[in-house]
Amino acid sequence: EFHLHPRELNLQSDGPFGTWDLAQLQRGFQVYKEVCAACHSLKYVAFRDLSALGYSEAEVKAIAAGFQVPGIDPNTGEANTRPGLPTDYFPSPYPNAVAARAANNNAVPPDLSLMTKARHDGAAYVHSLLTGYRNLDTFSIDGKHVKDEFPEFTTPEGGHFNPYFANLNIAMPPPLTAAGQVTYAEGQPKPTVDQMAKDVSAFLAWTAEPKKVKRTQVGWPVLGFLLFATILAWLAKNQVWAAIK
Ligand code: HEM
Repeated sequence: EFHLHPRELNLQSDGPFGTWDLAQLQRGFQVYKEVCAACHSLKYVAFRDLSALGYSEAEVKAIAAGFQVPGIDPNTGEANTRPGLPTDYFPSPYPNAVAARAANNNAVPPDLSLMTKARHDGAAYVHSLLTGYRNLDTFSIDGKHVKDEFPEFTTPEGGHFNPYFANLNIAMPPPLTAAGQVTYAEGQPKPTVDQMAKDVSAFLAWTAEPKKVKRTQVGWPVLGFLLFATILAWLAKNQVWAAIK
C-alpha cells in the first residue's frame, strides 16, 4: 500500500479553543490568489468575505477588481466578463468545464471552497498533497519500492506521482516549487514551499468553515448557562418537595 495518510498539521484554529491566525490567513490568501487561482475557483467565497481577514473596504474593492467575473453585455445580451465587485464570488479562470479539461490533461481543477471538508484531515491533507510530490522511480516505503512491488504501475503523460493523492497519479502539476514564489510582507515568516503550503491550507480551512471559531467560542457560555440552569432546577425541586418526607 503506497497511499500515504496526511502528515500532522497543527493550526491555531484547531480545537475548541482555537482562534484564527489572521496574518497566516492573509498569507494563505496571497498564495491562493497568486498561485492556485490560475486554475481553481472559490465559488462559495465572496470578495467581501475577506474583510473578516482584516482587509479594508478599499483593499477588498481592489482585490475584486483584479478578477474577471462572468457578466452580460448590457447592449448585446451576450456573455462576457467584467472586473469583479465586492459582492461577486471568486470565479473559475475557465469559461466552462470543457475549457478547464482542455487546459489540464482532461482533469477539471475542483472548486476549493469546501475542499478541507470534503477530504479526510482536510487542511493536513492539502498541506501534505502540496508538498507530497515524489519521484516514482525512487519512491519507497519501509525499503519497498513501488517499482519493485508493482512493475506495471506508471505515471501517464501529464500525470504527476503523489502518494498523498488517493489514486497516486494527479493531474495537477506541483503548484509550489520554489521558496519565494510568493513575496510575503515584512515581518512574516520566510515563504518556503512548506510555509506557503501550510498558509494556503490554513486559508482553505477558513474558506470551508469561516464561522468555526465563533461557533466554538459561543459554545462555552452556552455550556455555562446550561450548568447554571441545571443547578437552579435542582435547588427549586428541593424547595418544592421540602415539606414531603
Ligand atoms: C486538484 C489544491 C494549484 C490544477 C487539486 C486538489 C486540491 C488542489 C486540494 C484536489 C485533490 C483531490 O481531489 O483530493 C491546489 C492548491 C493550489 C493549486 C492549494 C495552489 C497552491 C493548482 C494549479 C493548477 C491546478 C496552479 C493548474 C496548473 C489542478 C487540477 C486538479 C487539481 C487539474 C485535478 C487533479 C486530478 O483530479 O487529477 N488542487 N491546487 N492546481 N488541481 Fe490544484
